[in-house]
Amino acid sequence: MRLSIWWWALCPILTTADLTLRNPHFLGDQTSRTGALVPYALDPLPLGSVTPNGWLLDQLQLMADGLPGHEHDFYRYVRDNPWVGGDQEYSGAHEALPYWFNGLVPLAYLTNNHRLKDQVLNATNYVLSHQQPDGWLGPETNVSEREFWARYPMLLGLTQLAEVEAGTPLATQILDAFHRFVNLAHTMLSNNYHGYVKREGQNFDDQWGRARAADMIMSLQWLYERNPRNQSAKLLDCMDFFYNQAYNWTHWYSDEVYPREDLDTLPDNFTAANWPLEHGVNIAEGLKFGAVVRRFKHDDQLANTSRRAVGLTMTYHGTPSGSIIADERLAGLSPVRGVELCTVVETMFSLSYIYHALGENTFADQCELAAYNALPVMTLPDWWAHQYVAQTNQPMCHKLEKSPFSTVQDIGQTFGLDPNYPCCTVNHPQGYPKYVAASYVREGENGIAHVLLGPTSVKTKTRAGVQVEVLCNTDYPFAHDLSYSIHADNSFDFLVRIPEWAQSVEIFVNEARLNHIQPDSVTGLQRISLDGAASTVRVQLSTEIRVQPRANDTVAIYHGALLYAIPISYDLTSYPDSDYPNGPPEVMNHDLVPTTAWAYAIDPSTLRYKGMPSSQAKLPNPLWASTAPTAITATVCEIDWSLQDGYAPNPPLAGNRTCSSDPFDIDLIPYGGAKLHMAELPVMNLR
Ligand SMILES: *[C@@H]1O[C@H](CO)[C@@H](O)[C@H](O)[C@H]1NC(C)=O
Ligand SMILES: *[C@@H]1O[C@H](CO)[C@@H](O)[C@H](O)[C@H]1NC(C)=O
Ligand SMILES: *[C@@H]1O[C@H](CO)[C@@H](O)[C@H](O)[C@H]1NC(C)=O
Ligand SMILES: *[C@@H]1O[C@H](CO)[C@@H](O)[C@H](O)[C@H]1NC(C)=O
Ligand SMILES: *[C@@H]1O[C@H](CO)[C@@H](O)[C@H](O)[C@H]1NC(C)=O
Ligand SMILES: *[C@@H]1O[C@H](CO)[C@@H](O)[C@H](O)[C@H]1NC(C)=O
Ligand SMILES: *[C@@H]1O[C@H](CO)[C@@H](O)[C@H](O)[C@H]1NC(C)=O
Ligand SMILES: *[C@@H]1O[C@H](CO)[C@@H](O)[C@H](O)[C@H]1NC(C)=O
Repeated sequence: MRLSIWWWALCPILTTADLTLRNPHFLGDQTSRTGALVPYALDPLPLGSVTPNGWLLDQLQLMADGLPGHEHDFYRYVRDNPWVGGDQEYSGAHEALPYWFNGLVPLAYLTNNHRLKDQVLNATNYVLSHQQPDGWLGPETNVSEREFWARYPMLLGLTQLAEVEAGTPLATQILDAFHRFVNLAHTMLSNNYHGYVKREGQNFDDQWGRARAADMIMSLQWLYERNPRNQSAKLLDCMDFFYNQAYNWTHWYSDEVYPREDLDTLPDNFTAANWPLEHGVNIAEGLKFGAVVRRFKHDDQLANTSRRAVGLTMTYHGTPSGSIIADERLAGLSPVRGVELCTVVETMFSLSYIYHALGENTFADQCELAAYNALPVMTLPDWWAHQYVAQTNQPMCHKLEKSPFSTVQDIGQTFGLDPNYPCCTVNHPQGYPKYVAASYVREGENGIAHVLLGPTSVKTKTRAGVQVEVLCNTDYPFAHDLSYSIHADNSFDFLVRIPEWAQSVEIFVNEARLNHIQPDSVTGLQRISLDGAASTVRVQLSTEIRVQPRANDTVAIYHGALLYAIPISYDLTSYPDSDYPNGPPEVMNHDLVPTTAWAYAIDPSTLRYKGMPSSQAKLPNPLWASTAPTAITATVCEIDWSLQDGYAPNPPLAGNRTCSSDPFDIDLIPYGGAKLHMAELPVMNLR
């Protein structure tokens, strides 16, 4: 999408010098480490260090009070899942409970919600106390049916829990269980990759495990760095095993192999042979593959695998909202095609990881873009219903007459409990909680950096041991002032990431204007040295409207981290879900039917930004709704463009656009609040 993705030539080669961890949440001995992993450019902090406030806290509370926080009460694939003694699953992969767990751990702790912590701890108790005698985690007693894949999100959840519960018996229990599991994994993988590469007589589907290997290797690295005991060598072996038989993303993203064509036009045997590499969620998880593997392979070429993965995916399949167009297979750039909710949250997680690992500004900007646009547009404001796929131009959500998607059904873009398939129901809760947790990092020996901007606070120590507390007050991304109050017990460096779209920056430290502002050209981080006392820092970013050309003479319109769209007013028709007649009354499936016109052309030379009325204005809660705090006014006219099979087809081509109304002004609002929206707008000259 943006050329700046391709600036890797400028990137520093990180040294592989030994990294001494001085983590205050340090979990145990590390005496028998056999060699350090390549350090992160910017060290992530353990869960619990960062907390949400402002509108992000409101969002997490809505999630806790909405579907994410109630799945455990009634949703069969969580409540009655085989991982916790039940018998309800949507697929033999047994991924439902692990997906849910991976999101609920941070949601429960970041909202400090005792009801949710209870749910998480009950599930943990069951899973740990039912670890099988040989060390296997999960319900598969028949050895031929054991597949590693669903362990990945379970271990990502357990490692977060061990961080936030560091020093407690529960953390030790998790580490013990993980070590038993690693022993078994080592035996299985040494035995012809049992449970990983499918062999005759084994009943599982090996595609997901081998495409998503990075998620498993991450947890192995986590254990290797924090609590290896005497298993460092086994842990490294396991990383190698998972890597050796993983689908090879380096190969896929090479110039000779990566398909730049519309996949629908390629031979069926090509697309069939490469299905695991063309599947949206696999790709989203796989974006970080190179960056993860590089940490133990010590091969800087692998950083390029992640850079190329993000660059090629976004260039050929990127949605203006910051995610990947794949419904479920990669689908090109058309605004008709779908963006899957699981793909959105996995893209966010991978991009925040890549920013931590490589420290290149563009990945953090892209992460914010997905977090502030692609994610919120897919849930209703109260977080009780979501879509399976969203379209960039989406004037109606209902059962389509015919699905334009590759393997998603006609109800895929309705809002509900589990439209099309249950995976996004259980996987979407990870989005904002993990984003919040990733939003501050340690920098160097004595720095703390705010990297994913938004209203969040952090309480932690620098590597050198200075205790730091930062509270960020902001309406970002709706306003571009960030106001920090900071306490530290000694001098340290505070750093703020300056997004690439910021045209100018002003910073005030204890009310005095900072004269030399020069963010690092790679990380985007502006360093502010503070002494050990109470300080205030005010950061004011300025930016202009950005117009991005898209296919077929259309544009997408941005201001800061927000995409703007023409909102379409609608009537909501709601139906109970027939599978859950006794579920919570809020559980409903919904059609959104437009009550206004939607077929517009826009004149991009007429755009005017309307910011928040005053700095005292309070953001609405729920936030991601049509009551938007900011807008862009534009001159548009209606054009001749009609629904086809129940959705908006590709817009008429440039030579075939005539106004069917006089030009008039309309307000575009942030995409995330416009559930029915037109965001890839055909251009006309209306002056
Ligand atoms: C957790 O387990 C305890 C004991 O079995 C039970 O009393 C409690 O209701 C459970 N909590 C949840 C949220 O399921
Ligand atoms: C275990 O799974 C395999 C593969 O599905 C099957 O052939 C075998 O009968 C199962 N064994 C038992 C004891 O259920
Ligand atoms: C080291 O490994 C051996 C077996 O491989 C085990 O018996 C022993 O308890 C381990 N020691 C520690 C400190 O974990
Ligand atoms: C993956 O592909 C790259 C590029 O084709 C190749 O250099 C590398 O050896 C492959 N890795 C594995 C584990 O096969
Ligand atoms: C697909 O089929 C064509 C024509 O039969 C063949 O040349 C090509 O090698 C096949 N590709 C794959 C990936 O099987
Ligand atoms: C990454 O790719 C770029 C462009 O192809 C190349 O110039 C650079 O040397 C590569 N870096 C590494 C570490 O392989
Ligand atoms: C551009 O328009 C053509 C003709 O309508 C259509 O086939 C193509 O899919 C469009 N491209 C995109 C990326 O939307
Ligand atoms: C022009 O646009 C109209 C309305 O969308 C459409 O029906 C017609 O097929 C288009 N003609 C051409 C030549 O693209």
